[in-house]
Amino acid sequence: MRTSSLLLLVCMLALCAFGICEGGPLRKKFYKSSCPNAEEIIKTVVWKRVAQDSGLPAALVRMHFHDCFVRGCDGSVLLNSTKDNTAEKDAPPNLTLTGFDVIDEVKTEVEKACPGVVSCADIVALSARDSVAFQFKKPLWDVLTGRRDGTLSRASEAVANLPQPTFDFNTLKQNFARQGLNVHDLVVLSGAHTIGQAHCNAFSNRLYNFTGKGDADPSLDPTYAAVLRTQCKSLSDNTAQVFMDPNSGTSFDSHYYAAVKQHKGLFQSDAALLTNKITSNIVTELLNQNAFFTEFAQSIQKMGAIGVLTGNSGQIRKICSVVNP
Ligand code: HEM
Ligand SMILES: *[C@@H]1O[C@H](CO)[C@@H](O)[C@H](O)[C@H]1NC(C)=O
Ligand SMILES: *[C@@H]1O[C@H](CO)[C@@H](O)[C@H](O)[C@H]1NC(C)=O
Ligand SMILES: *[C@@H]1O[C@H](CO)[C@@H](O)[C@H](O)[C@H]1NC(C)=O
Repeated sequence: MRTSSLLLLVCMLALCAFGICEGGPLRKKFYKSSCPNAEEIIKTVVWKRVAQDSGLPAALVRMHFHDCFVRGCDGSVLLNSTKDNTAEKDAPPNLTLTGFDVIDEVKTEVEKACPGVVSCADIVALSARDSVAFQFKKPLWDVLTGRRDGTLSRASEAVANLPQPTFDFNTLKQNFARQGLNVHDLVVLSGAHTIGQAHCNAFSNRLYNFTGKGDADPSLDPTYAAVLRTQCKSLSDNTAQVFMDPNSGTSFDSHYYAAVKQHKGLFQSDAALLTNKITSNIVTELLNQNAFFTEFAQSIQKMGAIGVLTGNSGQIRKICSVVNP
């Protein structure tokens, strides 16, 4: 009896040494026998849609982030509000997430092949990876699977857990620490801002009224601030959008870190990565694209394992925007 449990422990340690237990209860190719074509179907739909919309990778990577930071990666970001509940999607100020229709199309195709098997939470994680992979025609990171779907989505929890663009370094650090992510993960995952756009109201205080004296944020490059003021015409503009990585906003690369170093990080939260010696050294390290890709792969896998539901917890939703009846 004692020998066999010791043997089991040794086996588990050996598996961990090979990285098999890295994602906690998640597995590589969880659907290998239950839905062998699942990952291929997901990739096919996502690549078709990215070919039509170069902004989609940004939308889906951000959706994955928002899903994981609120109640863990449980697909709660996909749920619609009901008459009794305001869901994460409808948190005020509205979160400007897009791409839900793509997740719905993926889910429809996957359900045709294997009804009731593949979770919406896994579809979000895999779609984020595949959307970025389109640029390279191969994935930049592995996604472990086996997440199950949650049944609750609360706007108040989105407000409480998602970091805001005005956060300073210490607030960001605490916000990530609550998710089990460290300062290194914070710098690395902020690199996702190499793709995508922001609405002016997320940063226009830095252009027009930083301390209430009609001034600009002194930590923002003044020439770049002037360019941004031509794109965001006033403090109240909440419709115009600006690429966060000024020169390559649809290319997943390490240029974000070059922008941050040049004091052209769009949000205070981007600029905050320079306020600390440790993080500014990481910014410098990540200018190297291979370093960024390697580190990003690790941190986004860590993010993708936050608070996951596995085993018999949660459910496999039939429609991603509503819990099963
Ligand atoms: C560090 C704290 C973070 C803050 C304060 C932050 C804040 C924001 C804000 C305000 C926007 C613009 C939304 C809009 O105006 O439409 C945005 C966009 C975006 N964020 Fe973050 N973010 C953070 C971390 C992350 C992380 C960890 C990821 C993913 C790993 C991520 C991925 C993205 C992407 C891809 C976009 C562009 C979305 C699109 O174009 O559709 N962000 N972020
Ligand atoms: C969820 O909300 C979206 C947007 O309002 C809507 O298009 C979709 O049909 C809703 N889903 C369901 C199952 O009603
Ligand atoms: C965001 O919210 C504002 C006011 O709360 C509303 O006027 C606007 O239409 C919303 N935008 C989107 C994209 O839902
Ligand atoms: C700038 O901020 C100050 C202090 O909050 C406020 O009184 C003033 O109206 C603001 N200016 C604009 C243009 O919004």
